[in-house]
Amino acid sequence: MRSRWKLLPVALVLPLLMGHDTGGCGGGDGVEFGPPTGSTCPPDSTLTWDSFGHEFMDSYCTRCHASTLTGADRQGAPLYHDFDTVQGVRNVANHVDYMAAAGPDAINTQMPIDDGATPTLGERKQLGEWLACGAP
Ligand code: HEC
Repeated sequence: MRSRWKLLPVALVLPLLMGHDTGGCGGGDGVEFGPPTGSTCPPDSTLTWDSFGHEFMDSYCTRCHASTLTGADRQGAPLYHDFDTVQGVRNVANHVDYMAAAGPDAINTQMPIDDGATPTLGERKQLGEWLACGAP
């Protein structure tokens, strides 16, 4: 007697890590990306999430861009653009630069879009620097 072994097909599990494809970043309601600010990271930069990014985001961005907000409370802010954690900022760091930071090549003031608290030019420059440093 011959026992025949059926070879089980090797299941290739392809993780569907397709990123945050929410239908086209930057489209939408007409808020256009600005150009890259050209910010650079000075070797002596002291900006970190704890010393800068967290407070910046809480002051100016997380009233719409927060993982804790859903539905209308987001005021139209796209899903997966949540800035209540440093990882949330890092995930879309370039886009944050194009929308809210300032540097030698551009001053981007598209965000925030409401009449609420708005960063100063100095704070936008710090944002550009912090992002250029990799949002440490
Ligand atoms: C009043 C609510 C509100 C505030 C506050 C706000 N945003 Fe937004 N944000 C929006 C909305 C609405 C959009 C979608 C605009 C569109 O699609 O045209 C958006 C889009 C964005 C995008 C583009 C997302 C993408 O990739 O398509 C970025 C980046 C962004 N905001 C960053 C910020 C930053 C940084 C701050 C703080 C300085 C901020 N936003 C503050 C409502 C807000």
